[in-house]
Amino acid sequence: MYQRQPLIDERWQKFLDQVEVIELVDRYGSPLNVILPTRLKENIESFKQIFRKFGLPPKIFFAHKVTKSLALVKQAKAAQVGIDVSSVGELEQAHQAGFSKDEIVANGPKSDPFLEACLKAKVIIIVDSLLELKRILDRNTSSGKLKVLLRVSDFNSAHVKINPQLDRFGIEFQKIDQALALIASCPGQIDLLGFSFHFNDDSFEKRVVALEMLLEKVFLLRKQGWKLKVIDIGGGFRSNYLKEKKHWVEFVEKFKQMIVSGHHRVSYDGKTYGFQIVDGTIKGSPTFPAYYTERPGAKLFEEVLSFRSPTFGETSLGRLALDLGLEIWVEPGQALVDQVGLTVMRVIDVKVKLGERVIIVEGNYTNLFADHLEMFVDPLVIKRTSPSSPFKHSYFVAGNLCLGMDLIVNHKVFLPEVSAGDLLVFPNTAAYRMDFVDASPLLQPRPRRVIWSPDELAVYPESN
Ligand SMILES: Cc1ncc(COP(=O)(O)O)c(C=O)c1O
Repeated sequence: MYQRQPLIDERWQKFLDQVEVIELVDRYGSPLNVILPTRLKENIESFKQIFRKFGLPPKIFFAHKVTKSLALVKQAKAAQVGIDVSSVGELEQAHQAGFSKDEIVANGPKSDPFLEACLKAKVIIIVDSLLELKRILDRNTSSGKLKVLLRVSDFNSAHVKINPQLDRFGIEFQKIDQALALIASCPGQIDLLGFSFHFNDDSFEKRVVALEMLLEKVFLLRKQGWKLKVIDIGGGFRSNYLKEKKHWVEFVEKFKQMIVSGHHRVSYDGKTYGFQIVDGTIKGSPTFPAYYTERPGAKLFEEVLSFRSPTFGETSLGRLALDLGLEIWVEPGQALVDQVGLTVMRVIDVKVKLGERVIIVEGNYTNLFADHLEMFVDPLVIKRTSPSSPFKHSYFVAGNLCLGMDLIVNHKVFLPEVSAGDLLVFPNTAAYRMDFVDASPLLQPRPRRVIWSPDELAVYPESN
């Protein structure tokens, strides 16, 4: 048995202790998504502190894609950051929340309608490919120069080994000059502010190499007359989901032992998450990401800026940006909505088959994007009637679609006794989980989102 106690903000503890969550779910339905917008402001502040530490202007663009919530987008606006949008819908919602053109960056691959909406609104465009740059130059009929960053990918370094990874986004570093030639061929159209990159994983090394290479490039290009002002280092800053590191380490170890012993079904569908038994010993590495990190939120950002680069005479990268009069921009998503939301689901049934317990909840895998982002943290149990005994059982959790693949927790979890009518609480679901897919398979209703206000001890429905 393993235990992976979730890390919970004290205001969520207050919610669980002082709100009648069962009544709330009875009123608004299951699943129910609950958000705490004030926490977003605090997460933003932790990034601003790092900018202040290096004397750099705080240039944060909240990656809208983590959430669909207008309340959260409005909260980001109130906290005086910009926004990173990747669709017409996100652009419209950014406008609705009051973001101005210079506070909006448009990222990702751009369809014609999205590109045209960006050109019309004159937001800052982060160009994803050479073809996209040509499409912009062909279409831009607006007066005045269009503010643009070039998204760059495929960095490599002589000092640090980076495994080349297939990255479909951005323009290869080696092709930057081709992009510059295109821009130079259409004078007066584009104000090239600088470059951007984004890594989905939390690698410190990759960010340092990319930033060093772009700093060097900026240095060279400025000599050629390019007035570059910005390097945008993207998002990818992680959150901590677990209270203690040891829970994560023990979990991975015990999970492997369970596979080796062969006495346990570790997952409902037989998946072993990247581990295999070869000649009686376990091999492989997990396909799930770590739910505990030593560098949560803005810590990784601080470490990247603090890196003393041998390429630049041991000057820290933050100091170097300051000396060059360059702005560093970030586009965090997940890290800004850390502890901003949770999802509650009502239990319909608990079945025992072949000695295994399966909880069936009122909700489905799309509600937590669980086929792609299965949660490796124990959900909390709220009992409808009698308090549960401390004795734990093993469970899998499935949804209420009449579909075999509808699994919410496919690997074995150990929970206090769960019965029909109880609630399962999935903590920290605001990033990419609670409304990323937002589908209604089987024509089931979409979940509601409500706002938790700890000061008033009240919960309000969100209007959008
Ligand atoms: C270009 C870009 N910026 C920022 C983000 C936000 O990433 P995260 O939520 O991991 O911080 C993403 C996510 O995919 C992205 O593609």
